[in-house]
Amino acid sequence: MTNPNPIAAAQAAASVPRHVALVMDGNGRWARQRFMPRFFGHKQGVDVLVRAVNAFADRGVEFLTVFAFSSENWKRPAEEVSGLMGLVLVAVSKYLTKMAGEGVRIRIIGDRSAVSDKLRKAWEQAEAATAHNTRITLSVAFNYGGRWDVVQACRQALAAGVKADEVDEACLSKHMALSFAPDPDLFIRTGGEMRISNFLLWQAAYTEFFFTECLWPDFGEAQIDAALAAFAHRDRRFGGIRPPELAPAGA
Ligand code: FPP
Repeated sequence: MTNPNPIAAAQAAASVPRHVALVMDGNGRWARQRFMPRFFGHKQGVDVLVRAVNAFADRGVEFLTVFAFSSENWKRPAEEVSGLMGLVLVAVSKYLTKMAGEGVRIRIIGDRSAVSDKLRKAWEQAEAATAHNTRITLSVAFNYGGRWDVVQACRQALAAGVKADEVDEACLSKHMALSFAPDPDLFIRTGGEMRISNFLLWQAAYTEFFFTECLWPDFGEAQIDAALAAFAHRDRRFGGIRPPELAPAGA
């Protein structure tokens, strides 16, 4: 049923973020609290992510972009790096059928050149198997960095023959890794740190931020609802001013 009041309809639509970006921090600390190796936290983190994708979709979020492995994460101990690579492979075989059946479209963003052929093929398979799903798009940022993204977009534009005086924001956006998605409305980081860590630098120009102490493996529906409730009260002006009738309740 359509809302007969256009202002109320606009408010309701704007109160749910279309696109949520997520930094899943705190796996290592969560594992340490249990006297377990860091890998145990990452493993739990995957299960929590699969549940979170569904919960975000149920609340009307259309795009969820998660930071699984940054361009800088190669600096971690070799054992942890190979553990994360293996975990992603296992996650694809364990969860692909389930996610495909639940209407999740999977996209991988990041520099694929440095990962194994096996992992690259698993990603291609996951993307192909879910390409027609429309409930929610889960973009997994792997070997991704915001600076890398800007550089690769420039290179792509040059390779496409774009001239210097044709370069503008729209042109670069077209070549960014998330060109298929709107800019994120809400950026959530768990684990108590308050920084962007080279995630989605270009796309987060007017994104709202929500930081929580909650460690990623403890992140569930209550934390999702808290983040969405905080977002619903933000007064987004995008550098301009907002007509008072469209301001969120209490703003
Ligand atoms: C940060 O916690 C977490 C990561 C660097 C990895 C996050 C990855 C996953 C949850 C797995 C994703 C897998 C798929 C299939 C998408 P940390 O290790 O920095 O924790 P700490 O800050 O407590 O040390």
